[in-house]
Amino acid sequence: MPGLIGIGVGPGDPDLLTVKAVKAIQNADIIMCPASNQDRPSIALSVVSSLIDKSKNQEIVKLIFPMTKDKHVLEETWKRNAKIMSEKVLSGKNVVYLTVGDPYLYSTWIYMYKDLKENYPDIKITVIPGIVSMFTFASKVGVSIAEGAEKVAIIPSCYDLSSVKEIAKHSETMVFLKDGRYFDKVIEVLKESGFPDNSIFAIGQDLGTENEIIKKMTLGEVNDNNLTTKYFSILVVKRV
Ligand SMILES: C[S@@+](CC[C@H](N)C(=O)[O-])C[C@H]1O[C@@H](n2cnc3c(N)ncnc32)[C@H](O)[C@@H]1O
Repeated sequence: MPGLIGIGVGPGDPDLLTVKAVKAIQNADIIMCPASNQDRPSIALSVVSSLIDKSKNQEIVKLIFPMTKDKHVLEETWKRNAKIMSEKVLSGKNVVYLTVGDPYLYSTWIYMYKDLKENYPDIKITVIPGIVSMFTFASKVGVSIAEGAEKVAIIPSCYDLSSVKEIAKHSETMVFLKDGRYFDKVIEVLKESGFPDNSIFAIGQDLGTENEIIKKMTLGEVNDNNLTTKYFSILVVKRV
């Protein structure tokens, strides 16, 4: 029966897709993927491009999700894209929707899923998980995300950071995602947060791609605030 599959394509390295994800992509009639505007490539699509057999003529549909915090624009966007998805699936096609990392961590998939469940309840939806950026990073830098009784906080850096100092008091590890362009502010807050100077501090940018950058030091050693400037960046700080 045709349906929709939300697929996590992992952090950027095509070798880090699950076997199940590869099979689903290769069996799809239509491959959908998010992009921030029509002229920009879809990162999720670029991760899997080497797996797509062009002779199969699979339809590729880029869904546009503008980078905005305007709730009204976002809601309109989710509705429009869910409608496009629903029409393709209800026409009898096997549709997959690609998303970077895992579909259930800060992903456009979450809004698609909610809208489709509510407005198109007959559509059969399944999800294939993907490798999350912070775990890729942990294996590259050799830093555990959590041990024993440790607590972890995951913070989206592009929003209000006023609660970070309080959260820092209760966390052994803090993972900052969503936008390296905000990491200067994160570093300022961390330095005032009571996290000890000997804490591990690591930053990764464009993990799994040929432009990958990884830096590791202690929090006390951080003096260059411009450590990363790109959206696809992750920052981990951990008490030792
Ligand atoms: C919208 S969130 C998507 C998270 C994704 N669903 C996951 O499971 O990792 C995008 C953020 O994830 C992080 N991220 C995802 N892939 C990354 C990569 N290859 N390198 C560095 N950071 C990445 C960055 O913090 C980026 O701003």
